[in-house]
Amino acid sequence: MSTHLLLVDDDRTFAALAATVLRQEGFRVTTAHSLHDARASLGREAPDVVVLDRRLPDGDGIDFLPELRTQFPDTAVLLVTAHGDIASAVEAIKAGARDYLSKPVELDDLVLRARRAAADLQLHERLRQAESQLEGRHRLLRPRAPAMAAALQMLERIATAPRSPVLLLGETGVGKEVIARHLHALRGGQGPFVHINCAALPATMVESELFGHERGAFTDARSARRGLVEVANGGVLFLDEVGELPAGLQAKLLTFLDQGAFRRLGGTAELHSTARVVAATNRDLNREVAEGRFREDLYFRLSVFRVDIPPLRERREDVLPLAESLVAELSAELGRRPVGFSPAAVKRLERYPFPGNVRELRNVLERALVLEAGPALELQALEPRGDAAPTAPDPNAFVVPGSPRPLEEVERLYVRHVLGLLEGKRMEAARALGLSYPTFLKRLGED
Ligand SMILES: Nc1ncnc2c1ncn2[C@@H]1O[C@H](COP(=O)(O)OP(=O)(O)OP(=O)(O)O)[C@@H](O)[C@H]1O
Ligand SMILES: [Mg+2]
Repeated sequence: MSTHLLLVDDDRTFAALAATVLRQEGFRVTTAHSLHDARASLGREAPDVVVLDRRLPDGDGIDFLPELRTQFPDTAVLLVTAHGDIASAVEAIKAGARDYLSKPVELDDLVLRARRAAADLQLHERLRQAESQLEGRHRLLRPRAPAMAAALQMLERIATAPRSPVLLLGETGVGKEVIARHLHALRGGQGPFVHINCAALPATMVESELFGHERGAFTDARSARRGLVEVANGGVLFLDEVGELPAGLQAKLLTFLDQGAFRRLGGTAELHSTARVVAATNRDLNREVAEGRFREDLYFRLSVFRVDIPPLRERREDVLPLAESLVAELSAELGRRPVGFSPAAVKRLERYPFPGNVRELRNVLERALVLEAGPALELQALEPRGDAAPTAPDPNAFVVPGSPRPLEEVERLYVRHVLGLLEGKRMEAARALGLSYPTFLKRLGED
């Protein structure tokens, strides 16, 4: 893909000439003659390289740099400074310009520096891909279990339809994220893989995180920011725990899925992104819809390509191969020699129900590698616990103070207690208590 270069210079003759030469060199060039023009162009498309003059009719290019850098942190800026003005060149680099050019700009010099910036960007991009491959080291093992093989086949078919959203359903720890990364890899790892966990962010932040915001959109928005939908352009946007998406945003997501268009928070311009949405949840979305917490139209839209990932206990054939491959991976990480399983351990693996699925298997193996001396792993931890063991006091128990208290107060204490148990996840706490979200807030004493 050719490098997109935005040339901001009020000298129209020079700008036209420079644009011609740069185009001959294979750049895709947009010109702007003022900061105002530049902002308009940036609203339409993110450039890879910006050549920015300092003296423009509506301001100094260097003052525009911070805004440009927050909005497009990956864009390389070449600042054009007055002839012989070393101080200004130093200032430019300090302000985050990649390089500078001094006036009068020699066309050869411009081409050389623009090419260098583009090459740096490519390197950066390659590093990023290498990183994301590293992150994806929890590679998907070819399944033997028919249920999982069918899910993967479905995924491979889906991969050929590049824009349609995908919904991954399955219990916690079955490998939804691994599968989402696999889908990205099936498309040759094109574009970035961007992960957002809707449950981990406060509802108020999800929108700006997802769709970005304009400067001043809310109190802390000192500068405009791209949302992850934009960042994932050309790649995959993995929307984890989609069931937690606040109701207002569900509508906005639906619009984005239908049209590929969205607006930043506080913005008016319609922006586009070709990011493919892969949504995942371990919730029963059918129930969420029935109980009015999840939009039915969004559910239908997401369910066109839906993949159900079976729990590990329903793919017994995969347990041992998975365990072996995880042990090899974990031993390498821990700097230990790979070890095998004792016959008793194999039996335990075959019998254990793995309520936490592959994540639990991985954790059990990691602990065993650290704690067991070997030569073969025994995996005692997978032994079903007899109820002979004395029961320790439950650290999660809710204790009501001895003297009689008004019910309302006890209720509030209990609501807080549940919220604490669920690590502050309010939606989940509301659900666990069987309350609507507003009622929950009221009981919490925050309304
Ligand atoms: N098929 C697989 N091959 C190798 N590792 C796997 C596989 N499936 C899952 N894992 C490992 O199990 C762990 C949990 O997987 P993942 O995070 O994808 O689960 P999840 O379905 O997203 O869970 P949650 O719903 O809790 O977010 C990870 O460490 C992952 O590397
Ligand atoms: Mg997950």
